[in-house]
Amino acid sequence: MSAAFDSAEIRSVDAIDTRMTDALADLWNRALPADLAVTAAFVRYNVRPSAGVQRRLFVGEAGGVLAGAALATALYGEPAVNAHGEGWIDLVAVAPVHQRQGIGRALLAAAEAWLAAQGCTQVCIGAGPRPFAPGLPDPNDAVHFFAACGYESFETAWDMAANLAGYTPPDTVREIAGVVRPATPRHVDDLLAFLHREFPGRWHYEAQMFIADAGRLSDYMLLWTERGIDGCCLLTFPDSVRPIDRYYPYQLPKPWGQLGSIGISADRRGQGYGAALLDAGLRRLHDNGINGCVIDWTNRVDFYARFGFERYRSYSMLARPLP
Ligand SMILES: CC(C)(COP(=O)(O)OP(=O)(O)OC[C@H]1O[C@@H](n2cnc3c(N)ncnc32)[C@H](O)[C@@H]1OP(=O)(O)O)[C@@H](O)C(=O)NCCC(=O)NCCS
Repeated sequence: MSAAFDSAEIRSVDAIDTRMTDALADLWNRALPADLAVTAAFVRYNVRPSAGVQRRLFVGEAGGVLAGAALATALYGEPAVNAHGEGWIDLVAVAPVHQRQGIGRALLAAAEAWLAAQGCTQVCIGAGPRPFAPGLPDPNDAVHFFAACGYESFETAWDMAANLAGYTPPDTVREIAGVVRPATPRHVDDLLAFLHREFPGRWHYEAQMFIADAGRLSDYMLLWTERGIDGCCLLTFPDSVRPIDRYYPYQLPKPWGQLGSIGISADRRGQGYGAALLDAGLRRLHDNGINGCVIDWTNRVDFYARFGFERYRSYSMLARPLP
């Protein structure tokens, strides 16, 4: 039984400075296994301002040292992104020596109360606008903690991975009536219009955030047909604005890369465009020397398996309603 911890010892922090991001990275790295390590730079990226986002960090201290933390995120004015009233708890971690003393529960309760006060009607673990992960990485004893705190798993998300060193296009890739090219800065409006039309939720929001973060436009690959953009996919290289540690590629051969999101216009699916776009993205990563490549946060295991990708890591997507 836990309960040694007095919830009054939880403090809320609105301005997250560099000292705190360093402490958060250190806390995460002590609480989670080494194959889920993060850099302080990644934590700083994840607490950058984003349009419509409000964040609040809750910390528990013991003897003046950070014993645990929970980071909560609410998003306003983007109903297509959180259509079910979701708010997110991006991370909750308690240092190993302080676990099982009620700190995690007190942090979660404080973060949930803040999200409820922001008008959120449900809370998800991970999966926010700047996620550390799409959910709880499996396997993880913390699943019992979240069950004790009222969370249920509603889906499993997969990261797939492959070594692109010897990548060759599979038979499933055929000629298409279109071309795939890296985007350039003059394509910003076309890209956003395509995403607004076809993927008006998270992917459109992510592209706006990527542009606001001064992301390199050529990290987007665009599928052009006779009527304009009909598909896009986003790549991550070691020097991209999105830190590669977001994909935890450490068991894969370096250099590391990532692909996703990837999407085709609804009325053009099932005609080989997706395979052609994916192939062009993978060839570009391969041609740039990328070996270990992650395709993250997907349930299309069979589609990516055709391109040599295997299951790499799974996440339990956890949520609970807020009163
Ligand atoms: C998950 C975590 C935050 C829990 O923090 P904690 O302070 O140890 O948890 P608490 O003491 O508040 O426990 C609350 C309840 O969960 C239960 N619980 C916590 N960890 C558990 C475990 N490993 N196995 C079974 N039950 C567990 C406690 O027994 C308690 O239940 P009770 O009130 O019925 O006794 C902590 O274990 C941790 O930092 N894990 C690694 C980080 C992580 O995986 N975070 C999720 C990714 S965002």
